[in-house]
Amino acid sequence: MGLKLLLLNAINFQSQRCPSFALPPMATLGSPKEVEAVKKPFSPPRLVHHQVTHSMPPHKIEIFKSMEDWAENNLLTHLKPVEKSWQPQDFLPDPASDGFHDQVKELRETAKELPDDYFVVLVGDMITEEALPTYQTMLNTTDGVRDETGASPTPWAIWTRAWTAEENRHGDLLNKYLYLSGRVDMRQIEKTIQYLIGSGMDPKLENSPYLGFIYTSFQERATFVSHGNTARLARKHGDLKLAQICGTIASDEKRHETAYTKIVEKLFEIDPDGTMLAFADMMRKKISMPAHLMYDGRDDNLFEHYSAVGQRLGVYTALDYADILEHLVRRWKVENIRSGLSAQGQKAQDYVCGLPPRTRRVGERALGMVKQAPRVPFSWIIERSF
Ligand SMILES: [Fe+2]
Ligand SMILES: [Fe+2]
Repeated sequence: MGLKLLLLNAINFQSQRCPSFALPPMATLGSPKEVEAVKKPFSPPRLVHHQVTHSMPPHKIEIFKSMEDWAENNLLTHLKPVEKSWQPQDFLPDPASDGFHDQVKELRETAKELPDDYFVVLVGDMITEEALPTYQTMLNTTDGVRDETGASPTPWAIWTRAWTAEENRHGDLLNKYLYLSGRVDMRQIEKTIQYLIGSGMDPKLENSPYLGFIYTSFQERATFVSHGNTARLARKHGDLKLAQICGTIASDEKRHETAYTKIVEKLFEIDPDGTMLAFADMMRKKISMPAHLMYDGRDDNLFEHYSAVGQRLGVYTALDYADILEHLVRRWKVENIRSGLSAQGQKAQDYVCGLPPRTRRVGERALGMVKQAPRVPFSWIIERSF
């Protein structure tokens, strides 16, 4: 059984390598595959198929219009004003100060104490954050809440732009830290980011804000868990500055999780049946990780390999997936929802409520397998095995 099958966060990985970035010389062209590569020289290296669009019935858009006042008073309140927000520079050596070189030297000395596999995980987390254009695009695919103009004044659009602006600091901070650390191959990392943004992602949201907000609730918690664990490990290795960096990012993720879970809580109140069906649908499809199409130009299974290192280190594991699911079922009091459910909705409720223990059993097996999986080299660090 392949590792891919066992990694819950890598499920439904439908991809197809396109050789368009390694074109053979014209004289050697012959097979239809190679000809196609010439025709589509800018196709992403990883493509997804079987995409469903606009599955939410059009009349439900009204629900989101009617929630605008609520969003103004209950969602936007979870944003932090820019003047009160931290900035990456607060945690980094100041290039305008005389002490810059000494500060960088200290940062690099401390970074030496961290193991290579820790850096693999930190790089993967940073790359995930750096693909932010993809996530803003994803939010703006959703019917009824998208930013229609790029500067729309609806609370949904204001939220999406401000959320993106907050998130933008995460990739910036980790990127600059990693650059200064001297422990990583920045060019390989930058290539991976370029490939990833070019590939996009396929969370199977079908333009539905129901699916979208369930997905983001899950994902914000997943990033909270993951950055929280990189903070804990940095502290364990004596790097208090890095612990502070990862911990600060984790607290943003927690605030975002609170906001997105509140939206879904409200949707359960307004439309219990539609929200229950969406929750079950999303969990059946599995929550794919945002960077599931990751590629560095070398490793065809880069995401699975990065994910395996994260599991071995305990940064984000298949058991965390089960924990998050269990947490959300409890948070939304899914078991207690009695009224407003169709027969199909009741079935969806039974399915979702029975899922955490099943997911945990599968997760335990997956974690056991991952721990025994062979170690592979990562182009982000240096060519050696972890
Ligand atoms: Fe983030
Ligand atoms: Fe986030």
